[in-house]
Amino acid sequence: MTYKTLAKRARDARTWARAPYSHFRVGAALLTKSGKVYTGCNVEISSYGLTICAERTAMFKAVSEGEKRFTAIAVAADEKGFTSPCGACRQVIMDLAGDIDFIMTNRKGELKIMKMSDLIPFPFGDTNLSKRK
Ligand code: THU
Repeated sequence: MTYKTLAKRARDARTWARAPYSHFRVGAALLTKSGKVYTGCNVEISSYGLTICAERTAMFKAVSEGEKRFTAIAVAADEKGFTSPCGACRQVIMDLAGDIDFIMTNRKGELKIMKMSDLIPFPFGDTNLSKRK
């Protein structure tokens, strides 16, 4: 699976975005090490804080089906520029997937690829919670 194809899956997943409040529709596609793809979209709730981003929808779908090892996640919005993930998603992706590739795609279908460790340097993580201190 190429990152172009993964980005296309993210763009397709955007179809199901529920964004009646922000009208900012986002799709995500998460690639596992075994080559499987889990998609997600943002789902907005009338009590706004309960909204979930596309990236976390995809992450939680995959983890809740037993997936543990990932390669990359692609995200698609409808912006001229590249949509960077929110802080909550950065923490969740780093915790659940580690230092994977984060692929942003813009309106023209161009890609910008960053490592998660560049998006969330010096992260909080499970080692902070280790009992062996
Ligand atoms: N959103 C995402 O789904 N992913 C991002 O990377 C940025 C923000 C959503 C959350 C909310 O539904 C809308 O975009 C506006 O913030």
